[in-house]
Amino acid sequence: MTDWAGVDDYIGDKLLAADAALSAALAANAQAGLPPIDVSPAQGKMLHLFARMAGARRILEIGTLGGYSTIWLARALPSDGHLVTLELEPHHADVARENIVRAGVNALVDVRIGPALSTLAKMRADGEAPFDLVFIDADKENGAAYVGAVLAGLTRSGSVIVVDNVVREGAVIDPVDPDPRVIGTRALFDYIGAEPRLSATAVQTVGAKKWDGFLLAVVGGGEAA
Ligand code: SAH
Ligand code: DHB
Ligand code: MG
Repeated sequence: MTDWAGVDDYIGDKLLAADAALSAALAANAQAGLPPIDVSPAQGKMLHLFARMAGARRILEIGTLGGYSTIWLARALPSDGHLVTLELEPHHADVARENIVRAGVNALVDVRIGPALSTLAKMRADGEAPFDLVFIDADKENGAAYVGAVLAGLTRSGSVIVVDNVVREGAVIDPVDPDPRVIGTRALFDYIGAEPRLSATAVQTVGAKKWDGFLLAVVGGGEAA
């Protein structure tokens, strides 16, 4: 029994309220030719719940696409909260901004265009306040560099870091896989495993997005392992 997509439908029916703005965002993304690589609805709700569990008031997202995960996260914020989301492609950012406006969260969200490592360096130089939750979901080659960048002044003790796509249908355990996304993900695990400022785990997932997983980390002391 491996009807993962069927179980995702069941979870959606039972636990996720129908949401016109989120459905419209996926339709607009398809219409605009964006790749269908958004988090699934169940995963989006999970990110939303993580943000609420963390009491997040400031959220950083790296990798906006059409803003589907952005909307889920923004809906977890209080009315004076803030979400900064970083996107390389101007076309993706344009589609995302329209989706974010349609979802009614535009006042909370700042879409910044450019290569995320450069934007992060500028944010650090500008003295941007730390973020309570960081969701990393952009180019997988730079995962370790993104974690390093956010640890260098954009997080605080207690900040939560979530990274998407860290299992890649099991490819992550193949030390000779030549895919740069796999090599980058393995470098991310090496980096986080050796970083004493982070307490981390990764959880495998199946569902509409096949077999993949999330890496979860908390910044700072007090860890159990
Ligand atoms: N988080 C989105 C999906 C993001 S897909 C969701 O779940 O709805 C990955 C996105 O990262 C793409 O839009 C891609 O253009 C962007 N990206 C790739 N390389 C990047 C870089 N160097 N800096 C910023 N964004 C990048
Ligand atoms: C891809 C990227 C993602 O962030 C994702 O969740 C699934 C697929 C990709 O680049 O193929
Ligand atoms: Mg992803």
